[in-house]
Amino acid sequence: MTVLLFGPPGSGKGTQAKDLAARLRVPHVATGDIFRRHLKEGTELGARAKAYMQGGGLVPDAFTCEIVASRLEEPDAAKGVLLDGFPRTAAQAEWLLAWLSARGRRVDGVINLVVPDEAIVKRLTGRRSCPSCGATFHVEFAPANGEQCSRCGTPVIQRDDDKPEVVRTRLETYARETLPVLPVLRPVAPVHDIAGTGDVAEIRARVFAALGLN
Ligand code: AP5
Ligand code: MG
Repeated sequence: MTVLLFGPPGSGKGTQAKDLAARLRVPHVATGDIFRRHLKEGTELGARAKAYMQGGGLVPDAFTCEIVASRLEEPDAAKGVLLDGFPRTAAQAEWLLAWLSARGRRVDGVINLVVPDEAIVKRLTGRRSCPSCGATFHVEFAPANGEQCSRCGTPVIQRDDDKPEVVRTRLETYARETLPVLPVLRPVAPVHDIAGTGDVAEIRARVFAALGLN
């Protein structure tokens, strides 16, 4: 099953992805996590993505699609994948549909998490992330185990792009470049608009129900 997790920065894509990927038994592929891993490891790819990410803009399409293609070609993704944060432009969406269709595959479902901007700013400025396993926490809503990741024990960090001024730019980028993905996907895949506000468990139940999972 190929499922897309879609929504603005801070809408809870990463938070919902862990349980959903486990339930679907497919790998969780988050382009933001891939870029951050390269940044941390100091690779050439990381150096190319850095300025775009830190400014709240998008990494160019050709480069991003190339990275996604090589991840999708790995054996664990042969039967399906949970994509988080991709596609993020209409061009990326067209590319993905063509890539899947050339392999007799399709998008089985899109989860569109809808969260108002005020809630997003609060969530992102309080977010803490695990640089090792990618788990996300929040100082108020979903605290980690002290300063350590509750899953793997690594000290949690604050992301560079969670500063208030970068968060505003990310929201503008989302409205301008990412929302146009939806009209590309709606005619070819079931798009489930899910309220992304409320408890994490409540939202998980909405997501599972939309996909017919229990
Ligand atoms: P990426 O890492 O994908 O960032 P994003 O889309 O901006 O989304 P986030 O990861 O910030 O938020 P999320 O929706 O995962 O929310 P989370 O679960 O963490 O991308 C980063 C950058 O990489 C981009 O800006 C771009 O430069 C580049 N990039 C990535 N993909 C690209 C692409 N395809 N093309 C081009 N460039 C690309 O939750 C947020 C916080 O809220 C957490 O603290 C969490 O604990 C809390 N929270 C979650 N749910 C709830 C709840 N129900 N109630 C209260 N708090 C909650
Ligand atoms: Mg995320």
